[in-house]
Amino acid sequence: MNIVTNLRITTSVKTNASLYKQVEDAFHLLNKNKYIQNISIIKRKKLTIKQIFKSNDSPVIVFENTGPKLYFTSEIPIYFHLDTAKVKLNMVKNQQQPILSEMINHITSKETSFNFVDGTMGFGRDSYLVLKQFPNANVFSIEQHPLIHFVISEGMKLQLNNNELKRIHFINEDYNNWVKLNEEKVDILYLDHMFEKTLIESDRMGELSNNILKIQEYKPIKHYKYLILKARFDSLLFKELNVIQCLRKSSKTHYGLRVNNSKQAL
Ligand SMILES: C[S@@+](CC[C@H](N)C(=O)[O-])C[C@H]1O[C@@H](n2cnc3c(N)ncnc32)[C@H](O)[C@@H]1O
Repeated sequence: MNIVTNLRITTSVKTNASLYKQVEDAFHLLNKNKYIQNISIIKRKKLTIKQIFKSNDSPVIVFENTGPKLYFTSEIPIYFHLDTAKVKLNMVKNQQQPILSEMINHITSKETSFNFVDGTMGFGRDSYLVLKQFPNANVFSIEQHPLIHFVISEGMKLQLNNNELKRIHFINEDYNNWVKLNEEKVDILYLDHMFEKTLIESDRMGELSNNILKIQEYKPIKHYKYLILKARFDSLLFKELNVIQCLRKSSKTHYGLRVNNSKQAL
């Protein structure tokens, strides 16, 4: 798990009563998080993000009307953004299926409902895609980093309707621990670990990659009915997790599936 030593929270320069309230609420909520040690509310005044980082380099969450943004540095904020999820949902409208959806369709075709556990929520785009595309899915979105968990879950909630809000559960944990304690909930476990070699370092994924705990060794895992793995084509994870890799000539991103025969399949 990532531990945060110091966190600062503030509003956008143009602020209002609702943003002040969100800062207050976040202060009380995050204060209870055992993975965050110190939190302070800072007055934004007219300071730019660069100025905020001049004398102090601890992370900052900025509350804006569009949702919270997390800055580890003054350069690239991390926040919930529809980007690739929107592209994939548009594919679905045009009768094309993203690979993850195709795999879920295949596994769950006879089911009235199922649980999808996203063990590596990150920016939350895959959780969002599954929640929107599969009205019969309950989604458990697990993220180990307390600040990423907070900004992505709060940002995503702003984009969801009441029914979707009831079907998604945001969890700040290491998925290895959570799935062991909640085995009966895990129909599909989906893992999309940070690529061992991040493709572009200067984008939001690069920023995320620079600030999360890097795992040197993956723990063996068996608490699922189906495991779907997304990883770079040359990732050792396919072998380590014993997953059948589906080869794609046109992309460096590959998917794999493993059925846990010792558990009753869906
Ligand atoms: C590549 S990102 C996932 C991107 C995501 N699929 C999306 O659609 O935006 C990987 C995320 O998994 C998180 N992570 C890695 N290991 C984890 C673990 N053991 N438990 C929970 N989260 C983990 C990292 O902190 C990171 O935010």
